[in-house]
Amino acid sequence: MSEVFVFDHPLIQHKISLLRDKNTSSKEFRELASEISMLMGYEVTRDIPLKEVEIETPVGTAKTKIISGKKLAFVPILRAGLGMVDGMLSLVPMARVGHIGLYRDPETLEPVEYYCKLPDDIANRDVVVLDPMLATGGSACDAVRFLKKHGAKNIKFVCLIASKEGVRRLSTEHPDVGIYCAAVDEHLNDLGYIVPGLGDAGDRLFGTK
Ligand code: PRP
Ligand code: URA
Repeated sequence: MSEVFVFDHPLIQHKISLLRDKNTSSKEFRELASEISMLMGYEVTRDIPLKEVEIETPVGTAKTKIISGKKLAFVPILRAGLGMVDGMLSLVPMARVGHIGLYRDPETLEPVEYYCKLPDDIANRDVVVLDPMLATGGSACDAVRFLKKHGAKNIKFVCLIASKEGVRRLSTEHPDVGIYCAAVDEHLNDLGYIVPGLGDAGDRLFGTK
């Protein structure tokens, strides 16, 4: 089973509450999604390897550490995953960004792929998949399967709100993929929405409904 990391940091929990509020505007929603992603990025990047270097300070030589050059790629699932890219990139500006376009068929709830553009060297990068919602888990599982087909090996999945069902499905189908989220909600409604969740993340980010 996957490792599941639920962020309990007070800043993240506070911002998630604001994000859930139906009265939060799209502008505020975008800002909050970006801020939460940045805070999550701190933990998600915890295992980036370091190497020792010597740096000349104004008063001597410091044996100190820098990131060893391990390559990272952020892969948002379009479109709602886009809302998490800026926050992550503000921590790791040198990371590459790939895009996977999936939407859920409203009848079957099955993901339908419509776009994919990944860095050429995706097989040599650690990959962080970004999507605010892990509902049935169908989109996440498809995206991970696709990334593995392209050679990606070390994959993490980062979302804002997960459902129990989504966590179960992703960790059963891809037990090697660590799951990072700020909340695990109880259930899905008949339309496949997370309850209480935050509604349709894409629509709330981009003001399309
Ligand atoms: C949402 C969300 C996930 C997916 C989660 O995207 O951003 O990608 O649903 O649901 P699942 O776990 O049941 O697959 P949606 O299909 O609404 O597309 P959008 O991002 O373009 O709005
Ligand atoms: N997609 C969303 O945007 N919200 C949900 O609750 C479920 C899927």
